[in-house]
Amino acid sequence: MINIIRPGITTLRLDEVAGKYLKLMKARSAPRLQGFPGNTCISVNEIIAHGIPSKRILRCGDRINIDVSAEYNGYYGDVAYTLIIGDHHHETNKLLDTAKNATMAAVEMSEAGTPLNQIAEVIEKKAKSHGFTIIRNLCSHGVGKQLHAWPANILNYYDPAETIVLEEGMVIAWEPHVSTGAVRAISSNGEWNLTTHNASDVAQFEHTVLISGGKPEILTTLD
Ligand code: CO
Ligand code: CO
Repeated sequence: MINIIRPGITTLRLDEVAGKYLKLMKARSAPRLQGFPGNTCISVNEIIAHGIPSKRILRCGDRINIDVSAEYNGYYGDVAYTLIIGDHHHETNKLLDTAKNATMAAVEMSEAGTPLNQIAEVIEKKAKSHGFTIIRNLCSHGVGKQLHAWPANILNYYDPAETIVLEEGMVIAWEPHVSTGAVRAISSNGEWNLTTHNASDVAQFEHTVLISGGKPEILTTLD
């Protein structure tokens, strides 16, 4: 999908390509298994998550988030990237860089014995240090034989009440949503598409990481 993204292409076309690839790999789209009308979630500009692939044509400067989750042989994986179409925009790129750094910091900290809230604190600090906010009602999560497995609903900000500590064999999808000012995602009329409460920009990167030999192993890298 990333290879073919360009101005003029529709999000539906991107999703068709993803669907064909999943089929080729004998994997199943996790969103489809949950009744979502698409193989992948593609969110553009004001839509920050769970965007439905459509005839919307991508234009230079659009911010696009691609979230791919799939099941293969009974196990799930979950990965997301945010990109800017065409030209660069300085402030937006700072947002993207910060979101990516927050996710990668969480991934690198994912060792056996590390408390989840210690990682969440670092995620929150990374965002705050650049004047950005964390969308507090969108969580990271465990992954396994279900897309959202234990530990469920991992907050991306520090919570003293969070007591879970990472253990060998755990699989976590870190996916903090970093924003220029929003703290909450909202859906209108129970629809899939999520926006922010105040029309702020949002960027998100997601990786699935396995704690193996006590250390983090990313399961969703791009070749
Ligand atoms: Co996820
Ligand atoms: Co995802």
